[in-house]
Amino acid sequence: MDTKLLFQDATGFSTPMLAVFAVDIATGKDADALPALLSTSDAVTSATEKVMASGEFKATLGETVLLHAPNGLKAERLLIVGLGKAKSLSMDEIRKGAGIAVRAAKPLGVREIAIAFPEDQALSDEHLENLPCLLMSRELVEGAEVAEIDYDTYRSDRKDRSVRALTVIAKESEKSTRAEIQEGFEVGLIVAGAQNFTRSLVNEPGNVLTPTVLGERAAAMCREVGLKCEVYSTKKLHELKMGAFWAVAKGSSEPPALIVMTYEPEGGVAKGAPVMGLVGKGITFDTGGISIKPADGMEKMKYDMAGAGAMIGAMRAIAQLKPKVKVIGVVCSAENMPDGAAFKPGDVVTTMSGKTIEIVNTDAEGRLVLADGLHYAKTLGCTHLINAATLTGACVVALGLVNAGLFSNDDATCEKFQDGLKVSGEKFWRLPCTDDYKDQIKSQIADMRNTGKTRFGGATTAAMLLKEFAGDTPWVHLDIAGCAWNEENTPWLPYGPSGIAVRSIVEWVRSYSA
Ligand code: BES
Ligand code: ZN
Ligand code: ZN
Repeated sequence: MDTKLLFQDATGFSTPMLAVFAVDIATGKDADALPALLSTSDAVTSATEKVMASGEFKATLGETVLLHAPNGLKAERLLIVGLGKAKSLSMDEIRKGAGIAVRAAKPLGVREIAIAFPEDQALSDEHLENLPCLLMSRELVEGAEVAEIDYDTYRSDRKDRSVRALTVIAKESEKSTRAEIQEGFEVGLIVAGAQNFTRSLVNEPGNVLTPTVLGERAAAMCREVGLKCEVYSTKKLHELKMGAFWAVAKGSSEPPALIVMTYEPEGGVAKGAPVMGLVGKGITFDTGGISIKPADGMEKMKYDMAGAGAMIGAMRAIAQLKPKVKVIGVVCSAENMPDGAAFKPGDVVTTMSGKTIEIVNTDAEGRLVLADGLHYAKTLGCTHLINAATLTGACVVALGLVNAGLFSNDDATCEKFQDGLKVSGEKFWRLPCTDDYKDQIKSQIADMRNTGKTRFGGATTAAMLLKEFAGDTPWVHLDIAGCAWNEENTPWLPYGPSGIAVRSIVEWVRSYSA
């Protein structure tokens, strides 16, 4: 989408469709209050006067009204988008509202739209507490850009429903200066571009996106944005003695890929400065291996590389946002297949760190590739680690499809990540991984086993194994199994890959910028 920011009044802007936002300001003491438009433009106010006064439009989130040939405006259509209760207005509604505007245009065949920046002057202060202005333009752009992509590339009968151009019509005010709006807009474009890049990777079927192809796509992206990228395969895994990663990879005829992406801030970093390590699970298809999964739903396991996708996308945004901190992305990619050469339950593997793992279930493969990935990131000098993985069904059972799992061995590091969630708007819920749970991964014959002694607390059991390899290094683990794929269309986001974690990882990294 060709996205621009313009500072002018919406009245004179020619566009096939102009979207404006409205909120529900009714409260207990004033239950009949009509919704309020987030625009101070006289022409917009008068063109919408009748419908706003009719009481038919309540401005609930997702509710829209479309007016043709609005009086006094150059726009051909005016779309009023409800954002819900003014009292609870947050960045999330701004993001969703922008997405709704874009997705509403598609079935109409409207190819170019404009969105009027929600004007804070239109509301009283009490309703605006939640809305720092800088972020408003950022969230608006993020919501619009992410909503634009439909994952229909593999349909030969697909219709082009793309919205090709978006103009954000902004007005500066006391609260939101031109510079703030501009900065938010630019950051939003970068972050949403990265999230969409991640989604394009996660959307690919397993026969297209093999570990080798994932490596090629990552390398091409790195070339484009000026990151250093090395892609290794079987030989390197052997050299590094990555016995756990190799155990998973060896059952497939597709070679594994170990992808290392490096971002160095211009002018370097001070000695002793933090080095952020981003480690991703990149299983391009997870059959479960010899502990094979049931056929029902197995097709979904093409997105078992969503953690890797998130890290590759995050690296893209980092290269463009240029924080003053060194970042290394490590992706461990393989296919988990049953085969004569595949690893088996009962095998004992020696990881790169030297610790041994008894394999109890070959379907618990993500923690194995990450065990070596995390250790490797430490040997590359990473002082802070974060990993993302579609790791456990147990995390989906615990948190459903709304929150992703968050685990950490260090409260301060975890809190920094949680602070970033206020900006990213993503939902992660912290779950425990204290040593009380260590007994679950005790093995009779090796240093640990790859699944728990019981099924209970399975997401934590997986985290406990990863924690062994993070060691004393501050570490955050994101289990995104339940949130990496949208099972249903919503008015603001289509069915398919969500791109979860990109925004939050980028925010976490930025919080370490010198
Ligand atoms: N890739 C799966 C986890 C998963 C589940 C991802 C649902 C996305 C949606 C992972 O490799 C796996 O199979 N985990 C097992 C672990 C078990 C064998 C201890 C699981 O969760 O069942
Ligand atoms: Zn598995
Ligand atoms: Zn898996």
